Amino acid sequence: MPELDSPQRQSPDSLMLTGFWYRALPADRIQRNQLHKATLLEIPLVIGRDRVGQPFALRDSCPHRGMPLNCGRFDGENLECGYHGWQFDVHNGQCQLIPSLTADQNLKVDRIYAGSCACEEQDSFIWVFVPDPGPPGAGVAPPVEPPDPAPQVEKFSSKYKLAYLEAEMPVSIDHGIIGLMDPAHGPFVHQAWWWRSQHSIHEKKKNFEPIPNGFRMSAHTPSSNSAPYKLLRLYADADSISTTIDFVLPNIRTEIIRAGKYWFSSLTTVTPITRNHCRIDVVAAWNLFRWVPFVPAALKFVFAKFVEQDRRTMELQAEGLKHNPHLMLIDDADRPAKWYFQLKAAHLEAKRTGTEMKHPMPGPVTLKWRS
Ligand code: FES
Ligand SMILES: [Fe+2]
Repeated sequence: MPELDSPQRQSPDSLMLTGFWYRALPADRIQRNQLHKATLLEIPLVIGRDRVGQPFALRDSCPHRGMPLNCGRFDGENLECGYHGWQFDVHNGQCQLIPSLTADQNLKVDRIYAGSCACEEQDSFIWVFVPDPGPPGAGVAPPVEPPDPAPQVEKFSSKYKLAYLEAEMPVSIDHGIIGLMDPAHGPFVHQAWWWRSQHSIHEKKKNFEPIPNGFRMSAHTPSSNSAPYKLLRLYADADSISTTIDFVLPNIRTEIIRAGKYWFSSLTTVTPITRNHCRIDVVAAWNLFRWVPFVPAALKFVFAKFVEQDRRTMELQAEGLKHNPHLMLIDDADRPAKWYFQLKAAHLEAKRTGTEMKHPMPGPVTLKWRS
């Protein structure tokens, strides 16, 4: 006899995962020779660009006595702390000069480092690699080399448009992420005449499969009941449209839509700023409607509206979460959220034991829900 389904009680731990790349800020926010403050995983950072425009990221705390480095003087190459004038190379954090040392004092200045993080500019964003916390006394450690380059929006032709959107949400990383992958809120949160209404709810069946560090909603033809998809099929003159949606740890959702030679691709991240605060950044690239006037603007408008609806919902949700209510996850609509928590736990366990991560999904799974 099948087991009776009961909802699973769930309280997110909001643990923030280190050892990954995170989007720190939009690239156009920092000019050459400038510094900017940012926070990732509760770590204060100072991010800047050197005199040739190359970005860098340092912990915003001087290894001497903790003065925020963003208050220092920056000449486009070295950053001088405002307290005692120690100077650091901005790209590796290595100390270059301690002005108080006399000629006969032989402190090894070059063994001192201001915590530097690997930094890359990719698709309109500055990405920062947040390493695992080092041993105490990390002020003497050189920067950690990330195992992979920063993630990129996948592109399928040489000409395309690119746009980004961001929204801050007063909830933990876990609520931000499960809100992002939640299939059941669409008809209630994202109502619009040209998209969905509560009356368009119908049963859905989607196939999911495990992928390294995450899961994939397998290529399929998207809901035919929304106007944009009908329009797209007509425009692309394609008999089929396929959509693939991936989620991978720690926080990345990619969506790829392909219709004939046309494509739309997005990379969305939910970035933990602090324990109770995250930011959602969507970067989209597309070659659809590139020549039709107003279409890029219209696409951006649609996306902005979606993100704003999600943001507003989470702002309201944060009110309810203040009192630490018991929460639950139900099948099948919340199964992706369950996988997220299981993936996170499996990742941490693998790290703790130094073994390979055991994927929580045994194989392909079909989920059913109404939305
Ligand atoms: S606190 Fe930075 S040089 Fe002393
Ligand atoms: Fe949403």
